[in-house]
Amino acid sequence: MAKEFKRYLVTSALPYANGPVHIGHLAGVYIPSDIYVRYLRLKGCDVISVCGSDEHGVPITIKARKEGITPQQVVDRYHEIIKKSFEGLGMSFDIYSRTSSATHAVTASDFFRKLYDDGKFIEQTSEQYYDEEAQTFLADRYIVGTCPKCGNDRAYGDQCEKCGSTLSPDELIDPHSAVSGSVPVKRETKHWYLPLDQYETFLREWILDGHKEWKSNVYGQCKSWLDGGLLPRAVSRDLDWGIPVPVEGAEGKVLYVWFDAPIGYISATKDLTPDWEKYWKSEDTKMVHFIGKDNIVFHCIVFPSMLKAHGDYILPENVPANEFLNLEGDKISTSRNWAVWLHEYLEEFAGKEDVLRYVLCANAPETKDNDFTWKDFQARNNSELVAVLGNFVNRALVLTQKYYGGKVPACGELNDYDRATIEEMAAVKGSLENNIENYHFREALKDAMNIARIGNKYLADTEPWKVVKTDPERVKTILNIALQITANTAIAIEPFMPFSAEKILRMLAVEKFSWEQLGATDLIMEGHMIGTPELLFEKIEDDVIQRQLDKLAAAKEANMAAESTQEVEDQKDSISFDDFQKMDIRVSTILSAEKVAKTKKLLKLTVDTGIDQREIVSGIAEHFAPEELVGRQVLVLVNLEPRELKGILSRGMILMAEDASGKLRLLEPNEKTNNGAVVG
Ligand code: 2FM
Ligand code: ZN
Repeated sequence: MAKEFKRYLVTSALPYANGPVHIGHLAGVYIPSDIYVRYLRLKGCDVISVCGSDEHGVPITIKARKEGITPQQVVDRYHEIIKKSFEGLGMSFDIYSRTSSATHAVTASDFFRKLYDDGKFIEQTSEQYYDEEAQTFLADRYIVGTCPKCGNDRAYGDQCEKCGSTLSPDELIDPHSAVSGSVPVKRETKHWYLPLDQYETFLREWILDGHKEWKSNVYGQCKSWLDGGLLPRAVSRDLDWGIPVPVEGAEGKVLYVWFDAPIGYISATKDLTPDWEKYWKSEDTKMVHFIGKDNIVFHCIVFPSMLKAHGDYILPENVPANEFLNLEGDKISTSRNWAVWLHEYLEEFAGKEDVLRYVLCANAPETKDNDFTWKDFQARNNSELVAVLGNFVNRALVLTQKYYGGKVPACGELNDYDRATIEEMAAVKGSLENNIENYHFREALKDAMNIARIGNKYLADTEPWKVVKTDPERVKTILNIALQITANTAIAIEPFMPFSAEKILRMLAVEKFSWEQLGATDLIMEGHMIGTPELLFEKIEDDVIQRQLDKLAAAKEANMAAESTQEVEDQKDSISFDDFQKMDIRVSTILSAEKVAKTKKLLKLTVDTGIDQREIVSGIAEHFAPEELVGRQVLVLVNLEPRELKGILSRGMILMAEDASGKLRLLEPNEKTNNGAVVG
């Protein structure tokens, strides 16, 4: 039997206030959490949703240094931007707080102090990297170097963003200071550690035995952390931005951002209600943390160990973490400006808030990383929101206006098809609830949309616009049912698309329904006057999408320009003119291209070199699809010694340019040239 809870406490990962929010954050965390809490509220549950800005940590101080402003100015700026943009998208947090608040300073300090007084920390002096030039210890992102796992030379002291590995500064190869660029020295410093190893048994029992129902990505990550063995984790840092460590002899030390941030959920609840303790200290509360996959260890291992050590608080009942959303095939990146920023979207797509909510939910990275593309955004808007949802609601309302001047007609006797349609609609409720309660929001959205599909099909099959000529009484029943389905649509889509739900209610001229009314057919009364129909969604044209693609292309160009000034390989040793003359490079046309079986990288190309037609095996399969190569003119080194690769004799080499990111580009003549033309 699943446990019954009296109330819900829903938390959404506190975004760092060092930049605006983008679609990756939304799809990963905030859209799912908002759907969940809106659903619970509609059901009449006692639920609170808390969030706020995460305003400590090194990324914020780095940004401040870069811009020559104070960390407080950085967080003030982004807190406002984030808060406003969340509101714009209809995020219905009961409170959007911030970790620089006075309440939080006291709450986090007291939390630390209790663990300290109860002897839950280990105090340890160790050698840490120190920047003598900037006179600062180099914690986390203050130190950069080469990742020992993937070779990325811009890995941070806490994480490599390229391969996702969690790192410690000592693991970095060639470490240097992100503050001054200098090579750091080691200096002794004292810190407080939470001995996570002492919580292993508790965590194993609680998660691995007790929460097998958690999403497999979350459960799997917890299992691998636990199987790998846990180590004590430092919960303080030598920094001047953060909450001071509240003990004697801790001058210049602050709480580690990942110690204070999750306590921010408690502080936010305190700021929301004097009754906060019932949400945090009663086993009757179901606490759910919505996060992205990079936060799993902190919410499933570290924070629960802190809560356990403290002893007064409940543990999360579930931690539904999503995977990552990519953008047009590339990882979203703040520093490379490869993102769709929420505040910009809201400006450029005013009135289309629900379109973004819809697309990000329909395409949410629930079980694996997913890709957002502007073409898919357009297609989902035009062929799902406009053609299905908008079309159905519009037809029901417009026909009611047209035939009855907006006065809801009576429902006469139902025939078998009417009854089957109503039953089908009513059956959606169970599936929709089950999907939302199990965090399957993509499926849940399909259920909600299904009601509109059922309505659309009902109108298409019953054809009131034809029947009106022969059996006007029947049309009254059809439209009464269509209006009931419309009202049901408004209930079902509210958690996902609150703006559109509200608009439907406005057009129906009715007050908000409760969730329990979903499936009912007495929502709109006979004789009630509906309002004026308007279009629920509008078609998005190609030029609108193209503008967004152009924006991304400009970001890519800017990145490439920045990279090319950063990383250019050294010039090779000089060669004689004769050496150069030995190379026979010809303009050639690629006639065919296919993947070499059982290889990931190789393509077999047939090229017309002007001299002959020959085969060349090239290691470019990960960069080009065969079909995009056929017909292209390229430059081929034709007198390279033939080589056998996977049983194919490769005679020559296609010339390419490789940029700093490793991306390959073909070298093509600037206009069509005869094959065999000599390059030199
Ligand atoms: O990853 C992040 O964006 C963090 N700022 C999330 C913090 S969640 C919570 F612990 F505060
Ligand atoms: Zn790496």
